[in-house]
Order: sequence, then structure tokens, then C-alpha cells
Amino acid sequence: MWKTYILAANLDDALQALAEYGERARIVAGATDLMLELQRNVRPGVEVLIDVTRIPGLDDITLKDGWVHLGPGVLHSQAEVSPVLRQYGFPLAQASWGVGSPQIRNRGTIAGNLVTASPANDTIVPLMALGAQVTLRSAAGERTLPLSEFYTGVRRTVMQPDEMLTEIAFPAMQPDQRGVFLKMGLRKAQVISVVSVAVVLTLKDGVVQEARIALGAVAPTIIRAPEAEAYLKGRRLDEAAIAEAGRLAAEAARPIDDLRASAEYRRRMVGVLVRRALLRIAEGREAEDFPEKPPLLWGKTRPQPRPLPETVVLTENTPIRFRVNGREVSVKGGFRKSLLRMLREEAGFSGPKEACAEGECGACEVFMDGVAVLSCMVPAPRAYDTDIVTVEGLAQDGKLHAVQQAFVEAGAVQCGFCTPGFVMTAVKLLEEHPHPDRETIQEALSGNLCRCTGYYKIVRAVEKAAQATPPTEPE
Ligand SMILES: Cc1cc2nc3c(=O)[nH]c(=O)nc-3n(C[C@H](O)[C@H](O)[C@H](O)COP(=O)(O)OP(=O)(O)OC[C@H]3O[C@@H](n4cnc5c(N)ncnc54)[C@H](O)[C@@H]3O)c2cc1C
Ligand code: FES
Ligand code: FES
Repeated sequence: MWKTYILAANLDDALQALAEYGERARIVAGATDLMLELQRNVRPGVEVLIDVTRIPGLDDITLKDGWVHLGPGVLHSQAEVSPVLRQYGFPLAQASWGVGSPQIRNRGTIAGNLVTASPANDTIVPLMALGAQVTLRSAAGERTLPLSEFYTGVRRTVMQPDEMLTEIAFPAMQPDQRGVFLKMGLRKAQVISVVSVAVVLTLKDGVVQEARIALGAVAPTIIRAPEAEAYLKGRRLDEAAIAEAGRLAAEAARPIDDLRASAEYRRRMVGVLVRRALLRIAEGREAEDFPEKPPLLWGKTRPQPRPLPETVVLTENTPIRFRVNGREVSVKGGFRKSLLRMLREEAGFSGPKEACAEGECGACEVFMDGVAVLSCMVPAPRAYDTDIVTVEGLAQDGKLHAVQQAFVEAGAVQCGFCTPGFVMTAVKLLEEHPHPDRETIQEALSGNLCRCTGYYKIVRAVEKAAQATPPTEPE
């Protein structure tokens, strides 16, 4: 694990630290990949983590000169609701919405997704179809290259140890362009893609002028389907053309057998997903299933990352100062731990629970600076000078929070191990959607697992708590 944790206050300090420590250092953004990589010793020799999530302005999504620009701090949860992306990069907004769970999307960044470079990573696929480029910066200079040239193999890129990915950009989709991203997994949430597909078409009077088809999880890197793309050019999206394009795209795939699917199944599913994507575009149904207002678990507005007056270098001997449930806490022993373990083992807050310790179950959920996050995936030093709320902080003046009371009344608790996480999710959900429909509740709870009560009573408890909330202005 890390020996030094640098909370960079600005980009220059981050790049200087990269230049100084080279291969011993690693940028950390949401840590939703890196925490597991470090725990599993996938990155031996990494001793210095350079956290860039407190640097102001890195999470901008802007439209300039016909290009969409994303900073390296853009979160999946920002992308899914960004008006710029919904209008000018729709397949990317869709892909971000499909990543993990709301809590994972509140920490995971698109840049982190690109750099991890797994062929199953979702946002690479639409960005490849959108013709994206990435900018890599070091203390010595900067270079911009097409995303297609960024990858050299499974989890391998051309990025050098002293470089940081500082921008992702792609040409804004024009009114004559349509696009869609589709993902197939073994369940609906918290799922690695078995196959994913992004299609971007330029159409004139119903005839395809240009087609871009990108395929995920079917080769060592994300690939395009050039024969299918060439075939579609000059054709209308009729049944025969859609079927043939699906067949040609399946031929482009080079999948492997693994525990999630056989190579043969994957190849067939490429054909199915490409056909579905083309049909959706032909029928104007790209946005089908995509919610207008997905639950984000931010509360009313997205709190900005708390900036730092200057870069902070933390080591084992530096106490980590933060606030829990409004109380100042200073902890010395938690430096190499997750926030969850620091809270439980060093600070005495046993409300957040450890079940999976890998971001899958939601039992460890807390609010960090107002946002619902999974504390098992947050490096403890990241909590320096933040406000943390745990389930212990919800009851006020000896009275349970309305959500806790509703869980009791609806019998939504059995062993209770998952309950703190569910309660935290419900509290955040009701802040942003005081009267959510059942679908929104189910989606909000998709990152929380219960192994005994079953979900009916939990959903009913959230509905009950919502009923107890006074009516508000229409959402
Ligand atoms: C439970 C769970 C579910 C998940 N579900 C999905 C899913 O459905 N789809 C999917 O695609 N992924 C999924 N992921 C993986 C992960 O959440 C994403 O890949 C996420 O986008 C990673 O972003 P991050 O900010 O957390 O990256 P980090 O973990 O902070 O970093 C990942 C890598 O990128 C490097 N890095 C980060 N930012 C930069 C930068 N600006 N410059 C240079 N290097 C950088 C880090 O050093 C590290 O090597 C899931 C993970 C978990 C734990
Ligand atoms: S998600 Fe953190 S313990 Fe399971
Ligand atoms: S009540 Fe036991 S895991 Fe949910």
C-alpha cells in the first residue's frame, strides 16, 4: 500500500510529484479501480499516491469550437446528467449511467475508466465511436493523441509514468448524427460488460453517410467494426441492412471464453447488440430506458470537491483530521487503511459495515462532503479535512430519522448488517427526490445488497418515509 499520500491543490503540484517519483507514483482519482489494484498487488512498487480530486476545475464539461471537452475529474454521475453530454455526446452519458451503482458513479471518473484500460470498461466504447482524443501532460510538456492510439493491449496504454491524462475531447455530435450505447451484463447493476456496443451514425434523408461502430469486451482492446461501418455507408436502415451490419460486426469480434461468457456467446451477442442499436436509431428510440432524472445520491445539488489552500503531503505519522457527524476527529493509525476501516477501527464509528470490501454491497456507505460514497473504496487520507456523515449521525435529539423509523415500521430489517447502507441511500435519495416513484427507488438502491430481508419491505420502507415527507414543489 501507499507510504505517501499527496492531496494536490493544483495541477502543477500533481505533475511535479509525478516527475519526482516516476514509477513509484500513481495518480488517484475516485480510487474505485486503484484501491482494489493496490489491495491485490497488481501495481507492485507504487508507494506514492497523488490525489487529484481536490483540484478545482478538473471536473468541467464544456462545449467549445464544436468540441466537447472533459476534465480528468469528471465523474460518471456528472456525465449521466450533463446537458452538454446528453445533447452532444449521448452515448457517453448512457455509458456512464451504466457504470456500477450510483455510489460508484459518485467517485469513479471517466479518465480513470480510460486509464485502467480494461477492454470491458464502458466509457471507452462510446468515446471510440465518437472519435475522441486524449491529452497527456507531464512537467516537461503535453501531447494529444487519438484514443485509438492510446491502447497497446489489455490494461496497457502508451502513457508514461510521469504523465497525467488531463483532457478528453471529441467532436460534438451534430443534428444529423445519432448515437447509442448498449451494454449486456449478467444483471442490471454492478455489472461488468459481457459485451458492449456504441454506434454513431451520420444520416441524410434516412441514408447513412458515415457509421462508427465500437465494440467492448470482445478483444484485448476496444475495437471498431470497419466492414460493418463500410457496408452501412450509403444504405438506409432497413431490416436487411441492419441484419447484415450485425453479422459483419460479429465477424470483427475476437472474444475469449471466461467465467462470464463463452467466446461464441459473446460473438453472437455482438451481432444482437449492433442490430438492436441500429434499430433503436432507425426508430428514434436511443433514449429508451434512460431516465430523465436518475437518482444521483448527491442531495439537492452536487457539492463541489472541497479545495485545499495548498498541497498536503500525508505520511504514516501525520494525523488525519476530519469531521464525523459534526465532531472534529484526528486519527493517527488509519493512514494505510480505507476510510471504512479508519472509521471503524480508529475513530470508533461501527455503523458503516464491511461486507464485501470491494464496492459491491453498499454496507459501508457514508456521506463525504454531502455525497453518498462507499467508504471501503476511499483511501483513508482522502478524508483529510472533509465532513463525513455516518448512520450514527442521522438520529437527532434521541429521535430516529424518518427513514430509520420507516424501516422499523415496515419490518425492513432482519440481521441488520446491510441496513446502515440502505438507510443512507434512502436519506440521500429523499433529499433529491422527496417523492420518488418505485423505479427511481429501485435504481437508487441498486448499489445496496441485502441477503436476508428481501427487497420488498425495504422498498416499502422508503415509500413510507417519502409519504411522511411533506409535499413540496413539483420536482
Ligand atoms: C463495484 C464496482 C463496479 C464497477 N462497475 C463498473 C462498470 O459497470 N463499468 C466500468 O466500466 N467500470 C466499472 N467499475 C470500475 C471503475 O469504477 C471505473 O473504471 C472508474 O471509472 C474508475 O475511475 P476512478 O476515478 O475510480 O479511477 P481510479 O481508481 O482513481 O484510477 C484508475 C487508474 O487510472 C489512473 N488514473 C486515474 N485518473 C488518472 C489521470 N487523470 N491521469 C493518469 N492516470 C489516472 C490511476 O492511477 C489508476 O491506475 C466498477 C468498479 C467497482 C468497484
Ligand atoms: S461496498 Fe463497501 S463493504 Fe461492500
Ligand atoms: S437484513 Fe440481513 S443482509 Fe439485509
